[in-house]
Amino acid sequence: MGGQSSRYSDVYAAWKADPAGFWAEQAKAIDWVTPPTITFDPEAGVYGRWFTDGVCNTCHNAVDRHAATRPDQAAIIYDSPVTGTVQRITFAELKDEVATFAAVLQDLGVTKGDRVIVYMPMVPEAAIAMLACARIGAIHSVVFGGFAAKELATRIDDCHPKVIVSASCGIEGAKVIPYKPLLDGAIDLAMAKPEACVILQRTQVEASLVPGRDHDWAGLVARARAAGRQPDCVPLAATDPLYVLYTSGTTGKPKGVVRDNGGHMVALAWSMTNLYGVKPGEVFWAASDVGWVVGHSYIVYAPLLAGITSILYEGKPVGTPDPGAYWRVIAQHGVAALFTAPTAFRAIKKEDPEAKHLARYQLPSFRTLFLAGERADPDTVLWAEKILGVPVIDHWWQTETGWCIVGNPVGLGQLPVKPGSPTVPMPGYDVRIVDEAGHEVPAKAMGSIVVKMPLPPGSLPTLWQQDERFHESYLSQFPGYYSTSDAGFVDEDGYLYIMGRTDDIINVAGHRLSTGGMEEVLSSHPDVAECAVIGMADSLKGEVPCGFVVLKAGVNKRPEEVEKELVALVRDKIGPVAAFKLAITVSRLPKTRSGKILRGTMKKIADGAEWSMPATIDDPAILAEIEEVLKDRR
Ligand code: COA
Ligand code: AMP
Repeated sequence: MGGQSSRYSDVYAAWKADPAGFWAEQAKAIDWVTPPTITFDPEAGVYGRWFTDGVCNTCHNAVDRHAATRPDQAAIIYDSPVTGTVQRITFAELKDEVATFAAVLQDLGVTKGDRVIVYMPMVPEAAIAMLACARIGAIHSVVFGGFAAKELATRIDDCHPKVIVSASCGIEGAKVIPYKPLLDGAIDLAMAKPEACVILQRTQVEASLVPGRDHDWAGLVARARAAGRQPDCVPLAATDPLYVLYTSGTTGKPKGVVRDNGGHMVALAWSMTNLYGVKPGEVFWAASDVGWVVGHSYIVYAPLLAGITSILYEGKPVGTPDPGAYWRVIAQHGVAALFTAPTAFRAIKKEDPEAKHLARYQLPSFRTLFLAGERADPDTVLWAEKILGVPVIDHWWQTETGWCIVGNPVGLGQLPVKPGSPTVPMPGYDVRIVDEAGHEVPAKAMGSIVVKMPLPPGSLPTLWQQDERFHESYLSQFPGYYSTSDAGFVDEDGYLYIMGRTDDIINVAGHRLSTGGMEEVLSSHPDVAECAVIGMADSLKGEVPCGFVVLKAGVNKRPEEVEKELVALVRDKIGPVAAFKLAITVSRLPKTRSGKILRGTMKKIADGAEWSMPATIDDPAILAEIEEVLKDRR
């Protein structure tokens, strides 16, 4: 296997022969307060910990060291077509802003180990707040702006933040979305109340502040600046948590993925050069949101750690103002590599199939397009390749791992692309395909995708204060392996193919959502007897949820009325990001004779795929009813 000039095989083999030696070498890319002498301690934590005796600070590595050596280079370029702003923030300026906001947090009583929730739109202040936490050893937990108050409240109750940092509004294309009512609603719902909130007032909306609890960002920053206080980076254990990021689990209760400081920096620094092939001084753009793992790793931490300029884009691929928006940003800022979700390209392709807007721009700096977050369908990959004339690299990873599990390491010399496959495992990941009993299956046979333990640096050591749930969720099903909950196969060249999740998670426009969580919301409606939510194929978003509900006997509302209420309920309880627009009342749900809901068959019917009558079905007529009703409603 391997492209003619790719160093991949040698590098992967070197890791496999001596994992500790490999990562000890990569750790040299980081400035340590005390360099680690232990690379991996198998006795520490749930399954071992990386760099256990190392002392370091992520903010120092991402900001301060570059402020000293490349002060005038842009660290962040904030490009916001929705506000008409382009702002260049140099490493020196970023250090000043971050250190000042660190003082603000300290003034509010935040110290090492305290949690700070960041509920922000895509503005530089979101990254500044994250880095300020990193500077003083506070643990940030960024919550995506598209989540509703109840979701935010669940996260508040899980991590008990001392302070919440938010903004008066987010801007979603043409819509201005006030954040403060959502924040106030969440704090009302939560049992754990923050001591203080810092609100960035944006010109579009002036949020009202709760006296004694809420503070104006600008006022606090001005005060800290006047006092000239800029705390230094606090020395932290490599194993201290940098952040907690909640992601959908198989219930309504999200999982708090913990990220450490040392291993995270080492893994991300390796990935920037070797996987993405981008060098210090160049420009990298991850068109995602700081609320997702892609935003954490590749808008904020990885590029900055490597001295690379990062684009922070507050806009959409289409409509802000047109489907040429991405080309404009790449051209204007000299972007070397773009990382986004396939859904963004499907959106562009839908509006501008002939890529006429691309003709308006020259993209000489642009070398590679990276896609992740959901399946990269070959149509989209080939279209992007054709119009851009650069390699389109699919890669596969998860919030849990924090960086790529399987990809095509452009920095080591690109391997041949096979559309439909994210290519090969990165060093650190020993990926296997197993059957239900945990036995490895031969090439091309489908199975569960697992990773031999231990996980590499950068991957989660545990879930926030839930070692047992971590073990139960990821390590118990296949002892000795991390279960990814994805299914797939490896071909004869060692290329991996991801075929879908084995649990109830669906991917809606690259956003990870739990259908189980949506079912919990639907079941809470007083008129609903039972329900099932499935992910239905969608040409733009990849998948969208579709809920089937059975109403309680004696409900005397019209079904359409209840359906409307259910759509509104999911939006209210989970958020608009769930894109739950289709609730369908049916007389009963298709079940096996033992009572298991036949979600798989319902999904096939909804997708218009071939399906066969399950032998174990209790009541065959209901599938015909579902097929009929879907014909009218899709
Ligand atoms: N704050 C508040 N609301 C938000 C939000 C935020 N940060 N992000 C999304 N929403 C809302 C949207 O406005 C939309 O609301 P609506 O139902 O009133 O229209 C809803 O949540 C669904 O959002 P989204 O799934 O993003 O759909 P969309 O139709 O607005 O846009 C795309 C579709 C493809 C253009 C968009 O998903 C996109 O740009 N994706 C690119 C890549 C990406 O972000 N990937 C994520 C992980 S890498
Ligand atoms: P998230 O944690 O939000 O990054 O979602 C992770 C899940 O998204 C994975 O478990 C996969 O199901 C899916 N996913 C991510 N990247 C890819 C990819 N390149 N191809 C197919 N599925 C992907």
